[in-house]
Amino acid sequence: IAYEPQASHPFKGNIDIAKLRALITEVGIEKIPFIMLTITNNAGGGQPVAMSNLKEVKEVAAEYSIPVFIDAARCAENAYFVQQREEGYQNKTLAEIIREQFSYSDGCAFSCKKDPMANIGGLIGLNDEGLYQKILPLLIAQEGFMTYGGLAGRDLEAVARGLYEMTDDDLMANRIRQVEYLGERLDEAGIPIVKPIGGHAVFVDVAAFLPHIPQSHFPADALAVELYVESGVRAVGLGALCFSVPDERTGEAVFPKMELLRMAIPRRVYTDRHIDVAAEGLKRVYERRDRIRGLRIVHAPPVLRHFLARLEPV
Ligand SMILES: Cc1ncc(COP(=O)(O)O)c(C=O)c1O
Repeated sequence: IAYEPQASHPFKGNIDIAKLRALITEVGIEKIPFIMLTITNNAGGGQPVAMSNLKEVKEVAAEYSIPVFIDAARCAENAYFVQQREEGYQNKTLAEIIREQFSYSDGCAFSCKKDPMANIGGLIGLNDEGLYQKILPLLIAQEGFMTYGGLAGRDLEAVARGLYEMTDDDLMANRIRQVEYLGERLDEAGIPIVKPIGGHAVFVDVAAFLPHIPQSHFPADALAVELYVESGVRAVGLGALCFSVPDERTGEAVFPKMELLRMAIPRRVYTDRHIDVAAEGLKRVYERRDRIRGLRIVHAPPVLRHFLARLEPV
């Protein structure tokens, strides 16, 4: 269901537990150093993971002694959806829910530019003293001493405050409402979007928006370009340019199941009038969608082409 953009489900970010078990058996625990769960799921539409799913993942992982790590960039948005949608959490605060989420993990990687609203910075959290001692030399060599990790004091302070502010229930409710506001403006104009609307962004279903452009011509990125040219609004394509991989045997491109355009909204930056500008821009592009053409690659490095490729219209 996670691959069906229009199909609604309260927790489309959940890991399929049966598939997780099958994968562990298939590849073997010696090849799995850890399980990483991204809450909320960014690439799949900003969709949340249920607390019950987090708990089950931890139980399965414990059976095989595999550590569980959380990619916590949007753990507070995830907690908000748990509070709103999962039985038994309506009367809990975001802070309580976040704490429970982390109780089902052995550690986390945390980009603090997301929910904690810092301009820069992140952290790795660990429960395991042995592992902590092991990564310290790497931290010092690659980032800086553990008292600052390569960050300026001002930024560390912003991270520390942001970690508290992200747990403010009212701020979060207003943030999610603004993302919903954008989604509703697009939905009422008939623009196909991923449902339910995600936590940090509205994801446009580009396969339905531009059905005449094949994945080999990168429709999601073509739409990002059109939106920027039309309105100066930046969004990001999450489709074939980002996720296609060559088939191991034939070398032919294997395309991802979805072509999405992510319209992410920074926290505490825009008013709803700004959001109207973005919605109106995409609506104008939608009206002339039949005339939009795809893109072809002019230059692409061997890795990270999504970030570094240069393209031209077909
Ligand atoms: C879920 C998630 N984790 C990690 C990152 C990477 O964060 P950073 O740029 O701080 O390394 C991103 C996006 O940038 C993200 O969306």
